[in-house]
Amino acid sequence: MAPRNRTSSRRPLWVIILIAFVCAIVTGAYLYKPQHYTGCYLSNSCGSQPPPVPVRVYTDDEIAARAVMRDIVLSPPVHSKNPKIAFMFLTPSSLPFEKLWEKFFMGHEDRYTIYVHASREKTVHASPIFAGRDIRSEKVVWGTVTMIDAERRLLANALQDADNQHFVLLSESYLMETNISFVDSFDDPGPHGAGRYSEHMLPEIVKRDWRKGAQWFTVKRQHAVLILVDTLYYGKFKRYCKPGNEYHNCYSDEHYLPTLFNMVDPTGIANWSVTRVDWSEGKWHPKVYRAVDTSFELLKSIASIDESIHVTSNAKHEMQRRPCMWNGMKRPCYLFARKFYPEALDTLMNIFSNFTVI
Ligand SMILES: *[C@@H]1O[C@H](CO)[C@@H](O)[C@H](O)[C@H]1NC(C)=O
Ligand SMILES: *[C@@H]1O[C@H](CO)[C@@H](O)[C@H](O)[C@H]1NC(C)=O
Ligand SMILES: *[C@@H]1O[C@H](CO)[C@@H](O)[C@H](O)[C@H]1NC(C)=O
Repeated sequence: MAPRNRTSSRRPLWVIILIAFVCAIVTGAYLYKPQHYTGCYLSNSCGSQPPPVPVRVYTDDEIAARAVMRDIVLSPPVHSKNPKIAFMFLTPSSLPFEKLWEKFFMGHEDRYTIYVHASREKTVHASPIFAGRDIRSEKVVWGTVTMIDAERRLLANALQDADNQHFVLLSESYLMETNISFVDSFDDPGPHGAGRYSEHMLPEIVKRDWRKGAQWFTVKRQHAVLILVDTLYYGKFKRYCKPGNEYHNCYSDEHYLPTLFNMVDPTGIANWSVTRVDWSEGKWHPKVYRAVDTSFELLKSIASIDESIHVTSNAKHEMQRRPCMWNGMKRPCYLFARKFYPEALDTLMNIFSNFTVI
C-alpha cells in the first residue's frame, strides 16, 4: 500500500461509488469458514515452526477491557424484525455522488439508514434521502485520531437504531447473511507498517500484534459496540500514533482497527475490506478515475477481482495474495470502489443501470 500525501487528499474526490453486482451474486448464507491456506500467505510462516510466543502480563485495566470485549464478541446477534444496514458517510463537505446513491437505494427503502458526518462545510444535499441525515460533526484532520473520533461518532449515532445490524463506513443486503466484519488487516514488516510502531504502545500493544489496513470498513453490530467500548487501546493510539517523526509518522486510521481486531477477535474479520482502492500505480495517491476512465469494463474488472492483495512496504515489495473466500468459495471481493472524480457521475449513472440488472 502506498503512503499517502495527507495535505492534498482533502478534496472531495474520495467519496465512494459502489457497485451493486453483489446484490445478484449473493443469495445464500455467506458464512466464514476458516481456510487452511491462511498460514502460508505470510512469508515467514511457511515451512518452519513459528517461534514461541512470549507470555505477557496484562494490567488490571487490560484484563477488564478484554473481558468486556470478549463478552461482546461472543454475544449473540440482536435480532430485529426489520434488519437494516447503516451507511455512514465520512466526508469533508457535500457528497458529489448523492444521485448515484439514490439510484442504488431505490426500492430498498426500509432496509437502510444513512448517517453523514460532514467535517468541514455544512452539506448541501442533492437527494432527499440524505436530507436530515447529518449528525453533529467535528473537524477531522486527516491522519490524526480525529478521524477515528469521527468514525466512533458515526457508529454511536447508528447504534442508537436497534434495527441496524451492519455498519458500513463510506460511502446492502448480502451483508445481512455474514457473521464477520470486513476490516482490512495485514502484517507489513516495512516502514509504512511495522516501521510506524513505537514502543510507547507497550505494554498493551506489542510489535507482533501491530497490523496495517485500509480505512474503509464494514462491521457487524458486536464489533461496532466493541469499537465504542474500547478506551484502552484507543487511548494508546490517541497518544502515540500520529504524524511526525517522533511518532514514526503513524496514521491511526491505517493501524487502529486492524491492530485492535487482530488482538481481540482475529478470526472475526475477513482481513480485506469490501471497498476497492487501486494502489497499483505505486504513487503517493491511489488511482483516481476520470470520466474517460470510467467504463462498464472498468467496473466489470473491479467486480471480477477475487483475490485480495497486500504489498509490503519494505524493499522486497513482497506481494501477499489471498483468495476472497465466502462460505468456502472463492468469490469477488469488492462491493464498493474509490476514487472517482465527481465528473464521472454521469457515466457512472449510466453504467450503474446495467450493473444492477446483472
Ligand atoms: C460464523 O458462522 C460459522 C458457521 O456457523 C462458524 O463456524 C464461524 O465460527 C462463525 N464465525 C464467527 C466469527 O462468528
Ligand atoms: C485474518 O488474519 C488473522 C491473523 O492476523 C487470522 O487469525 C484470521 O484467521 C484471518 N481471517 C480470515 C478470515 O482468514
Ligand atoms: C448498458 O446496456 C445496454 C444494453 O445492453 C447497452 O446498450 C448500453 O450501451 C450499456 N451502457 C453502458 C454504459 O455500458
